[in-house]
Amino acid sequence: MCGIVGFTGTAQAAPILLDGLRRLEYRGYDSAGVAVADAGRIEMVKASGSVANLAGKTSDGAALSGTCGIAHTRWATHGAPTDTNAHPHLSEHGLFAVVHNGIIENFAALRAELEAGGIAFRSETDTEVVAHLLEKYYDGDFKRAVMRTAARLEGSYVLGVLCAREPGRLFCVKEAGPLILGLGVGENYFASDVTALVARTKNVVYMDDGELAELTPERVTVYDRTGREIAKDVSHVVWNVEAAEKGGYEHFMLKEIMEQPRAVKSTIEPRIRGGEIDLGETGLTAGELGDIDKIIITGCGSAYHAAVVGKYVIESLCRIPVEAELASELRYRDAIIDGRTLLIAVSQSGETADTIAAMRECMARGAKCLAIVNVVGSTIARLAGGVLYTRAGPEIAVATTKGYTTQLAALYLFAVWCAEKLGRLDEARYSELVSGLRALPSLAQRAIDLNLHVRYLAERWHGQENLFFIGRNMDYAAAMEGSLKLKEISYIHSEAYAAGELKHGTIALIDEKRLVVALCCQERLFDKMVSNIQEVKARGAKVLGLAIEGDRRIFAEADDVLYSPGCEQLFAALPEIIPLQLFAYYVARENGCAIDKPRNLAKSVTVE
Ligand code: F6R
Repeated sequence: MCGIVGFTGTAQAAPILLDGLRRLEYRGYDSAGVAVADAGRIEMVKASGSVANLAGKTSDGAALSGTCGIAHTRWATHGAPTDTNAHPHLSEHGLFAVVHNGIIENFAALRAELEAGGIAFRSETDTEVVAHLLEKYYDGDFKRAVMRTAARLEGSYVLGVLCAREPGRLFCVKEAGPLILGLGVGENYFASDVTALVARTKNVVYMDDGELAELTPERVTVYDRTGREIAKDVSHVVWNVEAAEKGGYEHFMLKEIMEQPRAVKSTIEPRIRGGEIDLGETGLTAGELGDIDKIIITGCGSAYHAAVVGKYVIESLCRIPVEAELASELRYRDAIIDGRTLLIAVSQSGETADTIAAMRECMARGAKCLAIVNVVGSTIARLAGGVLYTRAGPEIAVATTKGYTTQLAALYLFAVWCAEKLGRLDEARYSELVSGLRALPSLAQRAIDLNLHVRYLAERWHGQENLFFIGRNMDYAAAMEGSLKLKEISYIHSEAYAAGELKHGTIALIDEKRLVVALCCQERLFDKMVSNIQEVKARGAKVLGLAIEGDRRIFAEADDVLYSPGCEQLFAALPEIIPLQLFAYYVARENGCAIDKPRNLAKSVTVE
């Protein structure tokens, strides 16, 4: 998704802005641009393609003087990823430059109105209307021009605004979409996320919808929609810049796969004290849990896959009906929701537009909402009644790995905690489950160690055009995630199927060219999976089996084998995904794919 950076201070702005853009590259983009105000005019450079192209055009920013500016990475929505459509966009007489993340839904009407007034548009973007409106409304009062412009816009937007006549002053506006202010000494910043700022400051302010901020080198002032100054809390970012760098790994994705034992530990360990799980931070009391008669878990992509795993585990332990639903579907469904419904919204970024909309819809119908989120201070975290933070640290690779496994860890914690509060567990089972949770970090490590041969399997199987992932119950949920990992980074088509469903149609696609990845980590369903494996083998398919370490039965069935360490069956989906992440990673590497930034994908999907 688009990334925004703004800087005002005494140092040269453009190199700082380019550094910020580089740190936002992981979000996904297809063009970039920078604008600085200098000596009463705005200098602007834009480039399609990478930030490296923009750096090349500006000698790494050195070619642009000026100590106040804005910059942008664009993920095209309106208009192709060309230099002209890249942000910033200038107003008619070059008085204002604007960068924008989001979609301005009424841009066509605004454009028609401005064109009727004689303004000639240069780009195909929705954003350009903002630049022209700013100039139209500017009468010497920068803040008023920004407020009048924002009042004309409908949709979701975060804006950064620079004015040639206002040296050292920047405005930014937030109306859905992430925006963070960074507080420095004699310099201040705004950005789409903390990754862009953490090399320069750890003191940040999370902006809320409907707010605008004014930045000068000395001061940051936040206003509400009416222009009234408001006080905001300053938060301190706890992770450092190394956490957002590759640390010797070839790709962020591999680094993040390897970080999973630590990330899972950070998510679980601090919440277990003296053998007891303490999730007081959710704000849910035993009485409130007792009132819940339905849980809906929602999210998008991998977060949805975590929701599906959560459904199995929570239902099994808490005996409360659980639905797992894609946020993009839930938001438009006339779901049966009331004050006895608990919505669990799962999101790594905390900024996914569909998840936010589904939350708003369910909360408006009375649901209580608990968010499982990685990014502190994100929109979802602030919208929910309670938050259970996953403590994965910054996730940079577009394909989630540690974000997903820490979501599983948080859902498991919740399931065991809630079951105990509801009196559904005897003491022995509770302490068995708590031990099972505490074992997960070392099991994640074991899953990595057991599967180092996966790179050789990837050499053998990377040429596939289509493959299937099959499994039952929680293995089916893991199959969905394994399949998504493979397709998003290697561009190989794959489908996840509930193994028992194959024979209801899809088996028609199975032939001797097909590789089927069969997940067999549920002991009670092992024999059923063997029958499904035999069905596909009878049609000539090759089988890559995923089984529990030490289970020799799989050798009789599969051509190649991946392993997951034995663990509490309810938690098996966590270690089990790791070999599939590694498989996807090494297949994509064999195929020379852009692993950390796959084509057409963005890290954080802040538009619908
Ligand atoms: C897949 C992936 C996406 C995200 C989805 C939700 O590897 O990363 O499917 O899981 O876009 O994102 P968050 O969790 O940020 O809401």
